[in-house]
Formats: sequence, C-alpha cells, structure tokens
Amino acid sequence: MTTDRPVLAVSGLTLGVTRDRRARALVDDLSFEVARGEMLAFVGESGSGKSLTTAAIFGLLPSGIQRLAGSIRVNGTELTTLSDRRLRAWRGRDMGLIFQNPLTALSPSVGVQAQIAETYRVHKGGTRDAARARARALLAEVGLQALAAGPDHYPHQLSGGMRQRVMIALALVCDPALIIADEPTTALDVLIQAQILDLLARLQRERGLAVVFITHDLRLAARYADRILVLYAGCAVEEGDAAQFFTAPRHPYSRALRDAIPTIPSTGGRLAEIPGQPPGPEPLPTGCRFAPRCANVREDCRHTEPVMTHDGTRFACLHPYARTP
Ligand SMILES: Nc1ncnc2c1ncn2[C@@H]1O[C@H](COP(=O)(O)OP(=O)(O)O)[C@@H](O)[C@H]1O
Ligand SMILES: [Mg+2]
Repeated sequence: MTTDRPVLAVSGLTLGVTRDRRARALVDDLSFEVARGEMLAFVGESGSGKSLTTAAIFGLLPSGIQRLAGSIRVNGTELTTLSDRRLRAWRGRDMGLIFQNPLTALSPSVGVQAQIAETYRVHKGGTRDAARARARALLAEVGLQALAAGPDHYPHQLSGGMRQRVMIALALVCDPALIIADEPTTALDVLIQAQILDLLARLQRERGLAVVFITHDLRLAARYADRILVLYAGCAVEEGDAAQFFTAPRHPYSRALRDAIPTIPSTGGRLAEIPGQPPGPEPLPTGCRFAPRCANVREDCRHTEPVMTHDGTRFACLHPYARTP
C-alpha cells in the first residue's frame, strides 16, 4: 500500500513552563511535516527550541516543561494521547533518536553488540542468537565491519566517530520509519562529521527513512537536507527547499545565519555576525521577535507580529528579501 501520508506530522506544537503563565512559550505554534525518504533540517541558534521539540516528539520533555498545545503524529498515530507504556513501545521501535553525545545513550559496561541486540529483543522479541545476528548486520551496515565480525567491544574502546556509528545502528535496529538526529556531529572533527552525515544520507535513501536533522550549521543543512526549517526563539520563521533556500533566503534571520558562515578559502574578511542575543525567558517584544536584531527592521515590525506567508517558500516577515537574489 502506498500513501502520501507524512511519516511525521507536527501541528501547532506549543511547549512551555506551565507554572509561570507570564513566561513565554519556549516552542510556539510549530507545525511541520516530514515524508518518507525525506530529510528536513531544523536550523537555529542555541536556545531556539530544537531539542525541546525533539524531546516532545519522543515524550521525553524535561520536568517542568509541558506541551501546552499541539498534535504529534507518526504514521498517522497521535502520540500525545498514548499512555506512557505505549509510548515507550513506540520509542526505539518506530522512531530512532541520535544525539550529540553517544556516551549518554550507551551503557559503559555492556558491549555494543550486546546493547544493540538487547534493544532489538525488548521491542521485537525472538531468540538471543537472532538478535545478536541482527546487531552484527546493523554494525556492518553502518561501516563497522570489524566490530560486526569480531568479539564485542565496550563503548570506551571506540573512537568518537565509531561510537556515533554505533548509535546510528542502535537507532535503526528495529527498522523505524523516522530518525531524529539532534546535532549528531557537533562533537566530531570535520572529516568524521562528513563521514557520519554521508552515512545518514545513504541510509535515508536506501531505507526510505524520514529524517529530522537538527543543526546550528546552515551549511550542513543545505548540503544534506531536502528542506530547511529555520527556528528563531521557538518559532518557525522560514521553511523551504534547501538549495533555493541557500541562494535566496527570504527572512533576514535566515540571511544572517547564511552570511555568518565562513567561506573557504578565507578571504581574510570578517564574518558577518548577527548582532545581539536571542531572547531569553523574559516576555517577547511586541511585533516581530527578531526585530531588535534585524538589519531590515522598519517601524511596523515593532508592533505587528508577522504570520507565515506562502509564495513558494514559507516565511514570517513583513519585509522579506526578494524571491530571486
Ligand atoms: N529543562 C528546562 N527547563 C527550563 N527551560 C529549558 C529547559 N530546557 C530548555 N529550556 C529552554 O528552552 C529553550 C529551548 O531550548 P532547546 O530546545 O534546548 O534549544 P536548542 O536545542 O535549539 O539549542 C531555551 O530557551 C532553553 O533555555
Ligand atoms: Mg539542542
């Protein structure tokens, strides 16, 4: 059966600290979809709500933060109303999470083959031998042939890049439809970073995975993703096709993010920095939340909040850049 239904559909997601009703939402009315075989990149400065959104999808919000509104569907199933027990079953089986530091996901005292096999058995059952064979096959698929064939290894015996490959194998072992990779290569050096992202892109293509790739690096987003969603202070400010996005971003914040990227070879010029800081937990300014830092700000931006506008790309800006550069 084929279906056009998105693998992941998030609608109106709003997250915040409920105890303080004056505090602003940390993620504000966020909506997006990811299709089978598609990679959507989430881009935004630190604190823009990328990891909280991931946590909400996995039902792992930190204590004190709650979902105030919104729907999260994976393959048509609404996750926000599932019991904790059913959500635990979903996690790991139907969606896999890859994050920056694999050591926080891997047990230090169990071999990686055994950990992957155990995850498989928890969700899928079957014999220990079948689970171990599955773990070995996955390790080979992520490029760790020596670990797949040989004796088991503890996480501390592996390099950072190898650990991240183990984490990818762990995320994939139950054949999920959706992978969320939250800054998966931020801790790795540039060459290893490219290898890991090439691997993720290959798996996405071969397995038809829906992937959410979270990064603060717009250059990586443009290189690997099909679509890019830019978040600013918990709010989507632009969404569009990755290639077009990079040549002609519409929102001044997207343009500023792009222009803050160093180019190689270095011309010796200064990087364009985005002045100021993203808003903290204090109430937002009225009007556009980016206005205090915006290069294009006009008077109306300070009192009119822009809404998402569609004209090929989606953006929330009263005075966007033109469609073609
Ligand atoms: N446990 C928490 N308690 C209170 N505020 C939090 C907590 N976790 C994150 N935040 C706040 O939520 C916002 C979004 O954080 P996060 O999703 O981690 O950002 P990102 O991943 O984009 O860097 C930030 O302003 C951050 O300070
Ligand atoms: Mg984060």
